[in-house]
Amino acid sequence: MISKQDILDAFNFRHACKTFDPARKIAEEDFRFILEVARLSPSSFGFEPWRFLVIQDMALREKLLAATWGAQGSFPSASHVVAILVRKGDMRPGSDYTEHFMREVQKLTEETIARKTAFYRQFHETDFHLQDDRALFDWGCRQAYIALGNMMSAAAMIGIDSCPIEGFNQAGAEKVLAQAGVLDLDKYGLAVMVAFGYRVNPQPVKTRQALEQVVQWVR
Ligand SMILES: Cc1cc2nc3c(=O)[nH]c(=O)nc-3n(C[C@H](O)[C@H](O)[C@H](O)COP(=O)(O)O)c2cc1C
Repeated sequence: MISKQDILDAFNFRHACKTFDPARKIAEEDFRFILEVARLSPSSFGFEPWRFLVIQDMALREKLLAATWGAQGSFPSASHVVAILVRKGDMRPGSDYTEHFMREVQKLTEETIARKTAFYRQFHETDFHLQDDRALFDWGCRQAYIALGNMMSAAAMIGIDSCPIEGFNQAGAEKVLAQAGVLDLDKYGLAVMVAFGYRVNPQPVKTRQALEQVVQWVR
């Protein structure tokens, strides 16, 4: 078990690192660990709506920068950049993707698949109202952010810095990725990006509200 203090130290170490040391690259084994943490992240109904695009092509990062105001310092200097893509129509109940997923990945029986599909449909139509394309995509994005958080926390635990990046024009950044042939816009949208590397500048003082200001106990 990791000690609570070690975990808190890692959470205090993590900050939105704006500029990385371009000379320091993350070891392949360490980056695979970060990706493995993403892979193991939880998703609604276990359907893994995501795809992790690791962008190591500096020319593509440069093109993305035109639509990504929030990564002007981080993209050019980061050791690794990940764009988290989210599935669109594939996530609808009864889609080829969910059917294949239940059969081949989750190894469910036909009877369980039928039950789960009905329940999933009810969740989409009645509980969360995900019929609308935008609502469906945003739901996928919320799940992608769990993987994002896990990746950044795990990176911090092994001394690697990161910066989450939502500072982009969505249509503009998606267009760049689509033109590069790495994003099929019919199937996926761009949820969020994240840069990893090693800091060059000292970490700013962390500002947070006190626990009592953000937590309300209901007893
Ligand atoms: C979803 C999300 C998107 C963010 N987008 C950007 C971004 O585009 N560029 C950037 O420099 N920082 C970005 N940040 C970093 C936040 O500004 C930062 O996490 C916040 O100010 C708290 O500071 P800390 O992370 O250093 O503790 C983002 C953070 C989150 C959670």
